[in-house]
Amino acid sequence: MQDPTQVSATTPDWSREQISRFWDPAPKLLRAIRRYQAALAKGGVWGGLVSKYWVLVHRFWSLITQSEIHLNMAIEGGLRLPHPTGIIVHSSARIGPNCQLMHQVTLAGTVVLEGHVDVGAGAKLIGPLVVGRDAEIGANAVVTTNVPAGAVVGGVPARLLKMKPGYEAAAQGKAQTRH
Ligand SMILES: CC(C)(COP(=O)(O)OP(=O)(O)OC[C@H]1O[C@@H](n2cnc3c(N)ncnc32)[C@H](O)[C@@H]1OP(=O)(O)O)[C@@H](O)C(=O)NCCC(=O)NCCS
Repeated sequence: MQDPTQVSATTPDWSREQISRFWDPAPKLLRAIRRYQAALAKGGVWGGLVSKYWVLVHRFWSLITQSEIHLNMAIEGGLRLPHPTGIIVHSSARIGPNCQLMHQVTLAGTVVLEGHVDVGAGAKLIGPLVVGRDAEIGANAVVTTNVPAGAVVGGVPARLLKMKPGYEAAAQGKAQTRH
């Protein structure tokens, strides 16, 4: 298990998407998306044919995981899906490097996750909104507004629970400027 304090918010860690065994739905679902996009980018007849193969693979793993993560969406490297079931991500969402989505997460509409954002089980993020780098969304939260970098939020509707170490000063600065 990776130490969460060591996870970069900017540099994708591709080892987080590594396939470790034959039956490995999460990385195989992500691989289908990555290979599909690479084939389309390559273009030509061959690229078109290869992309169609990855569409089929993507459909298979989407069915197995009962998840909808669009083939064309922008996902930077290092996405972890530890329990890949029931994850719904709208095609206009954007996921930064080294994020993590637990089971039953929904990113509805234009939700932008900056780098190293962890989203707890069952959380629903209803865009448009931006979640800042290193933020953490609690299990079953319903998030409807922007989340600052380094914030830990939870509840329905989500409220600030705390700031991660190193981000407290930024939060205080914001509070002071409001007065
Ligand atoms: C939100 C979360 C990250 C906070 O964890 P933490 O930093 O260890 O925080 P604590 O447990 O010390 O809780 C701090 C406060 O937030 C509250 N809280 C914690 N999780 C919450 C949640 N999901 N929703 C609402 N409030 C929550 C606690 O009750 C506590 O409130 P208090 O200060 O009034 O007593 C964590 O509780 C969480 O939900 N993680 C997701 C885990 C997950 O989905 N796991 C799936 C595994 S299969």
